[in-house]
Amino acid sequence: MAVHILDHPLIHHKLAILRSKDTGVKEFRELVGEIAGLMCFEATRNLPTVEVEIETPVATAKCRMLSGKKLAIVPVLRAGLGMVDKMVDLIPSAKIGHIGLYRDPDTHQPVEYYCKLPEDIESRQVYVVDPMLATGGSAIAAIDFLKQRGCKNIIMMNIIGCPEGVKAVQDAHPDVELYLAAVDERLNDHAYIIPGLGDAGDRIFGTK
Ligand code: PRP
Ligand code: URA
Repeated sequence: MAVHILDHPLIHHKLAILRSKDTGVKEFRELVGEIAGLMCFEATRNLPTVEVEIETPVATAKCRMLSGKKLAIVPVLRAGLGMVDKMVDLIPSAKIGHIGLYRDPDTHQPVEYYCKLPEDIESRQVYVVDPMLATGGSAIAAIDFLKQRGCKNIIMMNIIGCPEGVKAVQDAHPDVELYLAAVDERLNDHAYIIPGLGDAGDRIFGTK
């Protein structure tokens, strides 16, 4: 599996503000969206295009457009929702599925509570989005659901990961490409990413 760690000044800058304990809900939410948009730019780099001829007001231009490959964005609830809007701005024809998982606070294992996917999900290039890749349990479970529904082309996008999570996803799903804005040092005893940014869902939705 290819692991892409995005190294870009705009992403570094926004990530620094995102991590700060002093960043409030409004700015945090905006930054998650902005970083997702920048990551989307890179994660869609290999989409196929086809040459088309476009009539400008003065001549014919040979241009390239997306070659009809169907896309889907699948946020892992809750925190993944924060990444969707800016991606849809860039890919307005994408369909959206939702996978609801939360981590059991004691076992840190993902618990499923919702799954609603586009009917033709198996024929789509799927972008699974979630700001955090910690143990990797949630990402692996989300990808399992998608594969059970026949999906073959899956890209995982996380803003912050850690070596443990990256390895777990690589081992479980070696065919899935992974895009991250940062890979941090490690997990702590509560399976939180260090240094990380805390609880992404709580910071996006202001629940703590
Ligand atoms: C967070 C995060 C991921 C998961 C990552 O969600 O958004 O989904 O934890 O951890 P893992 O890699 O160890 O599975 P959480 O379970 O806190 O739910 P929430 O988004 O509803 O807050
Ligand atoms: N989920 C989060 O929101 N943050 C972490 O550091 C780990 C899991």
